[in-house]
Order: sequence, then structure tokens, then C-alpha cells
Amino acid sequence: MPVIVITGANRGLGLAHTHRYLERGWTVHAACRDPEAADALNALGGDLFIHRYDAADPAAPADLADAVGQPVDVLFANAGVMGAERGRQAFGQVSPDDWMNALRVNALAPLLLAQAFADLVAQSHEKKIVLQSSRMGSIADNDSGSGYVYRPSKAALNAIGKSLSIDLKDRGISVAIMHPGWVQTDMGGSSAPLSTDEAVTGQQKLIDALSLETSGSFWHQSGELLPW
Ligand SMILES: NC(=O)c1ccc[n+]([C@@H]2O[C@H](COP(=O)([O-])OP(=O)(O)OC[C@H]3O[C@@H](n4cnc5c(N)ncnc54)[C@H](OP(=O)(O)O)[C@@H]3O)[C@@H](O)[C@H]2O)c1
Repeated sequence: MPVIVITGANRGLGLAHTHRYLERGWTVHAACRDPEAADALNALGGDLFIHRYDAADPAAPADLADAVGQPVDVLFANAGVMGAERGRQAFGQVSPDDWMNALRVNALAPLLLAQAFADLVAQSHEKKIVLQSSRMGSIADNDSGSGYVYRPSKAALNAIGKSLSIDLKDRGISVAIMHPGWVQTDMGGSSAPLSTDEAVTGQQKLIDALSLETSGSFWHQSGELLPW
């Protein structure tokens, strides 16, 4: 069966994807900051391996690749942070530490993961990298301003994803840059319109269909192409 590595697997979208891929019979390498405290993740059955991974640590991606040590069909960089509460995302309120940490977790870590895992992905059957972005990272779609911590980190991730799709094409690796929708998680809040189940269904359908021909696009989980 195929093998997936997913970060931020202890709650929210990462946990829901892990659950669904296990139900589908995949081997899942689930990465999270605190495996001992990840009760919901530890309770899942199936071909599951749980790894310690902190996206703020630049050494963590290479350590994770060493620990996984087998061909990886799908590398899913899902872990992410808002980076600051709403008030501290506003003009005039931004903390440099918040800003740098968001960039480190949301953009640098996925790039370092891609670099660390490219060989293992290239050795697999499916050869896919998925980046969990956000339409908040779209410059063309920004009609409400603010978000000075979160927006640039996801815009940087989008730029990275586009370059990865070009640079890894010769190795047969396709790259999806994705917006999961507005989803009921700790980050999305309870008034979000989508359940994690609905978002996971849409995203996994797109991941299944991802090919070199569609690589490097920015997708809403609904299948709509989003503007940069
Ligand atoms: N929910 C939405 O509406 C929405 C919309 C657009 C994009 N997204 C994106 O979807 C992804 C998942 O978000 P979510 O909604 O599932 O949010 P969530 O429930 O807040 O989960 C975030 C996940 O990221 C992990 N994480 C945060 N910082 C980390 C770090 N330094 N190292 C390792 N893991 C870390 C968290 O682990 P801990 O438990 O250790 O903190 C948690 O597993 C994010 O990239 C987010 O930007 C979500």
C-alpha cells in the first residue's frame, strides 16, 4: 500500500487526514510535536508510525526523513500556525518574533521537508508533495487587509510550492498547493462552514488526481483553482 508522511497529525486537519488514510489502508508516518500527549492519534488503528517533529526546529525535517527511511508516495506538509491572535495580526501591532516564527513554521519548514524527502518521494510510486497553504496567502484574493503575520507566511509557501513544482518535475515529482476551505478546527473555529471530514474528502480527491500535468497549481479543496 502507499506511504504518506503528514505533519501536524495530532489534531485538526492533520489528524483527520491521518484517520482517513489509515482507513484507506495506507501506511501513515504521522509527525507531531508531542507524541506522548497525542491521545487521539495514538488511539487510531492501522499501519501507523508516530514521530516527534517540531517545525520550528530547522534540523527536524532531516531527522524525520531519517526516521521514516522508506519511499514516500505523498509528503504532506500540513502543520501550520496563525502565528498571532487577530489583534496582533493588525497594522501597527506586529511582533517581529511572531512574524519570524510564522515564516519558520509555515514556509521554511515545508521547504526543508521537501529538500529532506525529495529522494524518498522520487523512489516511490506516486511521487507527490502536498503543501497545506491558505487562500489567506493569495495576494489577488486579499480584499480585507490585515493578517500581517499569517498572510505573508502562506504567500511565501505558495512561492516555494511553485518553484518545487518546476525544480522537481524532472524527477517525476508533482506538487499541490492547497487551501482546505474554512474548516472547523482549533484554527478555523466552530463557526467555520466545513467539517474536517468534508475538507479531507475534497483534498484527498485532489491529491489522488494530482499529476505532473496539474502540478504547481493552487487549489481550493472544492477543486476550484485559486489566484496567486
Ligand atoms: N482550519 C482552517 O480553516 C484552515 C484554513 C486554511 C488553511 N489551514 C491550514 O491547515 C493546516 C492545519 O490547520 P488546522 O486547521 O488543522 O489547525 P489546528 O487544529 O490549529 O492544527 C495545527 C496543527 O499544526 C501543528 N503545529 C503547529 N506548530 C507546529 C510546530 N512548530 N511543529 C509541529 N507541528 C506544529 C499543531 O500541533 P500542536 O498541537 O503541537 O500545536 C497541530 O497539529 C495549517 O497549515 C493551516 O494554516 C487551515
